[in-house]
Amino acid sequence: MKTIEGAPTQAAIGDGWVDSGRTFDVRSPFSGKVLASVVDCGEKEARLAADAAVAAFGGWKRTTAYERSAVLRKWFELIMARQDQLARLMALEMGKPVAEARGEVRYAAAFVELYAEEAKRVSGETFPSQFANKRLFAIKQPVGPVYAVTPWNFPAAMVTRKAAPALAAGCTMIVKPAEQSPLTAIALAALWREAGGPPAALQVLPCADPVPVSRILIDDDRIRKVTFTGSTEVGIKLYGQVSHTVKRLSLELGGHAPFLVFEDADLDLAVREVVAAKYRNAGQTCVCANRIYVHHRIADQFVERLGAAAAALVVGDPLDEQVQIGPLVDRDVFGKVEAHVTDAVAKGARLVTGGKALGGTLYAPTVLAGVGSGMRLMSEETFGPVAPVRTFRDEAEAIGEANATQFGLAAYLWTNDLSRAVRVSESLDYGIIGVNDGVPSAPQAPFGGVKHSGLGREGGHWGIDEYLDVKYLSVRIQSS
Ligand code: SIN
Repeated sequence: MKTIEGAPTQAAIGDGWVDSGRTFDVRSPFSGKVLASVVDCGEKEARLAADAAVAAFGGWKRTTAYERSAVLRKWFELIMARQDQLARLMALEMGKPVAEARGEVRYAAAFVELYAEEAKRVSGETFPSQFANKRLFAIKQPVGPVYAVTPWNFPAAMVTRKAAPALAAGCTMIVKPAEQSPLTAIALAALWREAGGPPAALQVLPCADPVPVSRILIDDDRIRKVTFTGSTEVGIKLYGQVSHTVKRLSLELGGHAPFLVFEDADLDLAVREVVAAKYRNAGQTCVCANRIYVHHRIADQFVERLGAAAAALVVGDPLDEQVQIGPLVDRDVFGKVEAHVTDAVAKGARLVTGGKALGGTLYAPTVLAGVGSGMRLMSEETFGPVAPVRTFRDEAEAIGEANATQFGLAAYLWTNDLSRAVRVSESLDYGIIGVNDGVPSAPQAPFGGVKHSGLGREGGHWGIDEYLDVKYLSVRIQSS
């Protein structure tokens, strides 16, 4: 079997490692070099995977929660044991700095650990009947085989955040990883097999063009759920497509997170956390702060400190342990970042730091002050290391600006006033609120958005419910 950094380059289909006869190249966004020629799946492989997922579901759903938990626990241990290798793979295939990538592997593993435990906590209900000879129960059962489409920005964590609850619930899953970063997903499937998981319970179909694979799996009536993390544009299309077979659907879509800094905030903490919230993964995160609103009385100080902190970030080779900002994943993402900065500066924004390409797809961490609402980056998700700062005068204005978007994934607020923290949190139309916290994501918490940011929740007990159907049992009994 061909491997790179220990990861296979074939598709994980059924019990085997499958060659389709076609390959596509995965390149390092930093060096531009080809890392691996990966098997390119199409309609035929999607049909094979669907048949295998359906067959495997028959057996996997009948295992006990304790058996599933034991396999997940072993999978968790193997992921933790291979964290350096997986982190290197991510740094190579999508450019996440290796130190940050190691953090992602631990985050990914934590979902597996959590759902090894949650598997044992799925419980039903009994409820009273109005008839003496009836007993009423609600039980939970796995929804069936699932099709998961995962993004390139979290090649490990977005696979486990979906696969671990699905497998814990007794579902089987076919993962289509992003074409930029398929190797990490394939490596995770290899570890699943090593952990003793039934191979066809977790299959991975890498492909250069997602359309043929998605068409087959979405049209297949036996696939009972689709879960997707990616753009709002694609999510809306999927929403329509799954309606033909009435599948369950989870969507984790785009965000445009506002970051509100009130005049009573701890400025040092706010600056430190906005750096984490904004420049994490070079800004290529759905929950990254996209619009920073600062109270006008503290704005100058804030901008100065943020500019200094951004300028101090180390940019470069993602395999270097000291590097904090790696390359953007590809020319498309890079082009959008450049276009947003050019548009903002042309419309009057002041460049505080950055605003320049540093070779390849490296882009300098950027801070822009004096941004206006008509600039592209105030309404579109930039997905890059650019922090636009705008001022506000009072709480009502800050809330109004923050909510003036179709997106509703994450929002952040900085204040030392408890009443304001609660008031503003309740007024923000978002699924996740960080109160004096720039990185609220946690495996045990509900992750997901409202409005155009998606449907459903991942993480915690909410995450496993997405893979369970409720079945109602009405039982007639003989009176004694
Ligand atoms: C995402 O960007 O979708 C994931 C971010 C996170 O889990 O914090």
